[in-house]
Amino acid sequence: MNIILLGPPGAGKGTQSAGLVQRHGMKQLSTGDMLRAAVKAQTPVGLEAKAVMDRGELVSDAIVSSLIDENLAAMPAEQGAIFDGYPRTAAQARDLDSILAKNGRKLDHVIELGVDEDALVKRITGRFSCANCGALYHDTASPPQVEGVCDACGGVEFKRRPDDNEETVRTRMQEYRAKTAPILPGYEERGLVSRIDGMGAIEEVSEAIDSILS
Ligand code: AP5
Repeated sequence: MNIILLGPPGAGKGTQSAGLVQRHGMKQLSTGDMLRAAVKAQTPVGLEAKAVMDRGELVSDAIVSSLIDENLAAMPAEQGAIFDGYPRTAAQARDLDSILAKNGRKLDHVIELGVDEDALVKRITGRFSCANCGALYHDTASPPQVEGVCDACGGVEFKRRPDDNEETVRTRMQEYRAKTAPILPGYEERGLVSRIDGMGAIEEVSEAIDSILS
């Protein structure tokens, strides 16, 4: 099964992808995570992407589509893929169709997480992750069970994303409205779109996703 998780910044795409990986053995393909890894490693892609990401704007279609192309090609054919934060433009949606076809795959579902934008700003500015394994937390909604210790790996160092400030988040939301939301009607015409209320508790959103996949 190959699915796209769509939604504005902070809608819960990363959180729900991690749950799908655990529950269904799927692979999360997050262009945001791939770009952040490239920035950290100071690769040519990372050096080009950093300033764009810091402003909350979109990195070029060619860069993100080639990241998806490489990562999908490396996956076992039988493993399902979760596209997290990709595609984000009409050109990326066309690229994804070609990449899937090249790999003998087809798109099964496009799941849109609907959210309230003001609540999203609170969500995002409260987000942090384990510096060791990347497990995702929130100051109030989902803190580690033992304060200062990662539930997943026992790590004690945490980090926050540089683009998780209110001004950049608002730009990321504008980018979503202007460039990403317009790709939904095309998927609707193909009968692929399901909408979920992303403002429920994390477990409720997971159950709603599982009921679409079953
Ligand atoms: P990316 O990393 O994709 O960021 P984003 O889309 O802005 O989404 P986020 O990761 O901020 O949010 P999320 O929906 O995953 O929410 P999360 O689960 O973390 O992209 C970053 C940048 O990279 C872009 O701005 C762009 O520059 C570039 N980029 C990436 N892909 C690109 C592409 N395809 N094309 C061009 N450029 C690209 O949840 C957020 C917080 O809320 C967490 O703390 C979580 O614990 C909490 N939370 C989650 N669900 C709930 C819930 N139901 N209730 C309460 N709290 C919750």
